[in-house]
Amino acid sequence: MASTTLEVRVTRVSAALGAEVSGVDLRHVDDALFALIHRAWIDHQVLLFRGQSLSDDDLTAFSRRFGALDQAPIQENGRRFVEGYPEIYVVSNVLGADGQPIGSLGAGEATWHTDMSYLEQPPKASMLYALEIPPAGGDTEFVDMYAPLAALPRDVRAAIEARQVKHDGTYNSGGYVRAGVTPTDDPVAAPGTLHPIVCTHPESGRPCLYLGRRRNAYITGLPLAESERLLDAIWAIVDRPEHIWTHRWRVGDLVLWDNRCTMHRRDPFDARQRRIMHRTQIKGETRPAA
Ligand code: SIN
Repeated sequence: MASTTLEVRVTRVSAALGAEVSGVDLRHVDDALFALIHRAWIDHQVLLFRGQSLSDDDLTAFSRRFGALDQAPIQENGRRFVEGYPEIYVVSNVLGADGQPIGSLGAGEATWHTDMSYLEQPPKASMLYALEIPPAGGDTEFVDMYAPLAALPRDVRAAIEARQVKHDGTYNSGGYVRAGVTPTDDPVAAPGTLHPIVCTHPESGRPCLYLGRRRNAYITGLPLAESERLLDAIWAIVDRPEHIWTHRWRVGDLVLWDNRCTMHRRDPFDARQRRIMHRTQIKGETRPAA
């Protein structure tokens, strides 16, 4: 279950996916330690590092070890985020002195999604660092996308194997309409990007499902009713408890996930409580491919 290099330990956190890496200060990562972290990330899909003390410079420096960073998406009210750090996306319900939210996604549920999969080349990884956490709620769940593919009924897999699915560009995972987009709930007409439903992970070489999110998803080339039927059948298997790890946050946690073979969602929390997280995203090097 656990592997050890000097004092660094990698310990699985659930039967489905995820591992905690302990004995690491992410402000000081040499090449050997980075190689261990990278291997663990590919093997476990999601990594948890507790007890970190990171400035925005530290967070972006560690993130850059994995590759070039994406610019943060525009906030729901059309603003960008942290002054001087265009790569940092703030996930928060807290209001600033001007009465405007300092970040995105509010205090409600964030539904299952893959980050920015409405892009042609979505980020390969995301990191979320916890600065302030409410006393209850706001847990984040991660789901493995390898095992559900293997668990699909044979007829469903055959029906989707060579197909593409539209990754909606209308709504974010909090249900907010993206800046500059006209809202629609018609999956056929909604703006979005097509990706293969079954992709091969470019580093592990393993096949996995690549769904993005359920809202406004559409399997192209099929009547809408057939697309809906297949997507419902797939999603009924994906978010089964045996595929999921739930993370209860502490201040100082950094979670790194592989955006190519996982999805995540967030529980709602009391809007009177404060939650502030800083997120970075590492650019994908390839388009999702079968
Ligand atoms: C996200 O979806 O990137 C944020 C998840 C969270 O707030 O825990």
